[in-house]
Amino acid sequence: MDAKRLSVASALLTWYDAHRRDLPWRAKPGETPDPYRVWVSEVMLQQTTVATVRSRFTAWTTRWPTAKALATATEADVMAAWAGLGYYARARNLHAAAKAVAALGGFPRTEAELRALPGLGAYTAAAVAAIAFGERAVVVDANVERVVSRLFAIAAPLPGSRPAIRAAADELTPTERAGDFAQGMMDLGATICTPRRPRCLLCPVRAWCDAFATGEPDRFPVKQPKPDRPQRHGTAFWLEHGGRVLLHHRPPRGLLGGMRALPTGPWTDEPPGLADAPGGTGWRLLPATVEHGFTHFRLQLALAVGEGSGHEPGEWWPIAELDGAGLPTVFRRAAEALRSGR
Ligand code: ADE
Repeated sequence: MDAKRLSVASALLTWYDAHRRDLPWRAKPGETPDPYRVWVSEVMLQQTTVATVRSRFTAWTTRWPTAKALATATEADVMAAWAGLGYYARARNLHAAAKAVAALGGFPRTEAELRALPGLGAYTAAAVAAIAFGERAVVVDANVERVVSRLFAIAAPLPGSRPAIRAAADELTPTERAGDFAQGMMDLGATICTPRRPRCLLCPVRAWCDAFATGEPDRFPVKQPKPDRPQRHGTAFWLEHGGRVLLHHRPPRGLLGGMRALPTGPWTDEPPGLADAPGGTGWRLLPATVEHGFTHFRLQLALAVGEGSGHEPGEWWPIAELDGAGLPTVFRRAAEALRSGR
């Protein structure tokens, strides 16, 4: 293992120096990384693609260039700026941790201290400690999981194999340049050691890859089949008056907590139709529906249009400025379908 460990780390770092992706949150070689930028990018990149994060990261850090600036923002602005990035608790946590960092007068520098900030999970603490501060922390995301499963041809299925994958990643992580090593593993996973049809002929660590040796590298990581997600139903209500549409804030805790949204009733096993309409008259259902996948269920939203008096409680938002409301993706898509179908 020791020889494999040293060879993989050194081959990977050499490859990273030549082929690293140019990403807006990365310090250029020789620059000191900014922990705020590293942290924001790592939180955005959880569950969101690099392509989406690229532009969103630049807009975010232009608006709030430091943790101190983010700490002074209102929660409503932070939540609206996160719209479309999903998993909105991450935005609330980012805001809370920015306040803690501002109160401390700067970022803590170790994985253990970072982990103590509100909402900073094991992955983010390890990533910031390694990438921003050069600590030898073990960083395991889905890309790293795939690369490590293949290097060791780990036959046990995910998620049960996670502890074994983590132990193997720990073995491979070098004492120096742990942050570059982690990012090299991620870049390798994103560009060469891809889920399907990995490009093994270009791989810098092929010589030590047990999965490559089996001739079927894309059999790894082995995955436990997931049970089907249950189907839920709801109705999104478009209540219009004088060029404005009624928006509600979702309850602060729970799914899409605190986000602006079109009014809906509870999400149920059967389509609820026009039950729970927010006042108004002349309700009719459109023939179209919007489908959205959440982590634990799939949602089908029926779309209903009605006329309001302008006095129903909530925010009466100008329809022409709806893009600025910061609606989460499922409601943005519902609003688009409602606007074109009403
Ligand atoms: N995915 C998550 N963090 C990343 C990083 N720092 N570089 C590339 N891809 C990533």
